[in-house]
Amino acid sequence: MVSRVSTVSFQGVNAVPVDVQVMVAPGKIGMNIVGLPDKAVAESRERVQAALHASGLSLPAKKVTVNLAPADLPKEGSHFDLPIALGLMAALGAVPADALSGYVVLGELSLDGTIAAVAGALPAAIGANSEGKGLICPAACGPEAAWASADLDILAPRSLIAMANHFKGTQVLSRPQAAIRGPSDGLPDLSDIKGQETAKRALEVAAAGGHNLLMSGPPGSGKSMLAARLPSILPPLSPAELLEVSMIHSIAGLLSGGELSDRRPYRAPHHSASMAAMVGGGMRARPGEVSLAHNGVLFLDEFPEFSPQVLDSLRQPLENGECVIARANHHVSYPARIQLVAAMNPCRCGMAGEPGHTCARGPRCQADYQARISGPLLDRIDLRITVPAVTAADLIKPGTSERSADVAERVARARERQKERFAGMPGVTANALCPTSLIETVAGPDAAGTALLHEAAERMKFSARAYHRVLKVARTLADLDGAAEVGRVHIAEAISYRLPGEGMAAAA
Ligand SMILES: Nc1ncnc2c1ncn2[C@@H]1O[C@H](COP(=O)(O)OP(=O)(O)OP(=O)(O)O)[C@@H](O)[C@H]1O
Ligand SMILES: [Mg+2]
Repeated sequence: MVSRVSTVSFQGVNAVPVDVQVMVAPGKIGMNIVGLPDKAVAESRERVQAALHASGLSLPAKKVTVNLAPADLPKEGSHFDLPIALGLMAALGAVPADALSGYVVLGELSLDGTIAAVAGALPAAIGANSEGKGLICPAACGPEAAWASADLDILAPRSLIAMANHFKGTQVLSRPQAAIRGPSDGLPDLSDIKGQETAKRALEVAAAGGHNLLMSGPPGSGKSMLAARLPSILPPLSPAELLEVSMIHSIAGLLSGGELSDRRPYRAPHHSASMAAMVGGGMRARPGEVSLAHNGVLFLDEFPEFSPQVLDSLRQPLENGECVIARANHHVSYPARIQLVAAMNPCRCGMAGEPGHTCARGPRCQADYQARISGPLLDRIDLRITVPAVTAADLIKPGTSERSADVAERVARARERQKERFAGMPGVTANALCPTSLIETVAGPDAAGTALLHEAAERMKFSARAYHRVLKVARTLADLDGAAEVGRVHIAEAISYRLPGEGMAAAA
């Protein structure tokens, strides 16, 4: 007889339904899995046999065939263990076959019959909910799956025996509760930073409008320190954003204990990161750092030290908010709407432009180093600032500077204005994401501002992108001021944030 169990295969953050068909029939004794399984799925055979044996069920002396349909869809990952085992148990009569028909099942088995956590429980739960089915998943993934819907029927057993007992009615499993990670205190605070008022202002503007930021300065001036304090002033994720972020983190297996957090992601990959680590790829087309930073911040410290190919691979996600991983037989795409924050020294020795220092290798040192960043990538960065070495006077100045909480309040107010402006436009939450067609309407400056912008655009030979990005930054500055219209001061400040990069663009 054939028993059927529903499970899923992941294509990006989407769960595609997969049917597990198990047949026990007379023939050569053994178990075969067919239907494009990858190595982890093929190894399922050993785990399933051992787990069933440990749970007191032995395989009959017959031929067992497991088919994963549709047969032309590649099946990757270890979450097929549980549907295969339950299908087999149904075929053997250990669980009632009709009890499984209303569920999507996923989970990995240990040799002792316990069910281990797997990646992707949240997208699977959302998929199951849209099909009107329930979900059977590992106990550790229950809190994460419970986020999909309050009405979703979820069974999260610890072992195969607990699952069988539930269906027998001897030990009923209770529904897991959705868990949220509490607010984590102890984020580094802006008040630790002495001086650097310009850099702090730029950080606030970046947080308020979701703009990309590049900080350049000598070693020890506090660039890494400033970037580490950005999460403390960013607004929390909205419920819709939280779900998008958690889906990606679920696929990557990063939701520890199944708990979700409304904190914006902050990813800071090392500069030795490969292309696959950055944009995604590898064995299971996993999401890369750019996608893991979706709706949050990607911080690239020592910017020019990243390989030029890796840096240029960021151009596409920065423009359209999506990462496409091309495979021989299919494409996988992950959302990647990020705010890029980068820090760098102006040259290899790090001291170019500092008063009283001359670069040993002359102007070439600076030009060669900065040329590692391509012009098009630099064009996508709205705020570029120089962070000079902090002066001794600033360091010993008594008293503390402004706390993160106060800055976060101003940022939240500016974001609130943007939310109202872009209400009804899905995916647009901040000025930086404003579509080009709309920017002139929402950020059209007054007469004095327009005159200044035209003059600057002509003199500095702005690209069309640069022109629009200046307008977006100016809109954010006006939002921070609480002004309805963009004025000349806002345009002037926005242009000043573009200047430091112009020399670098010429070098590239
Ligand atoms: N403005 C500042 N206020 C207080 N401490 C500072 C400041 N700037 C730097 N420091 C001190 O210097 C240390 C190094 O700072 P940080 O790592 O941020 O420098 P950096 O600019 O990233 O340097 P590098 O270019 O070498 O990466 C900090 O841990 C802190 O102790
Ligand atoms: Mg640093």
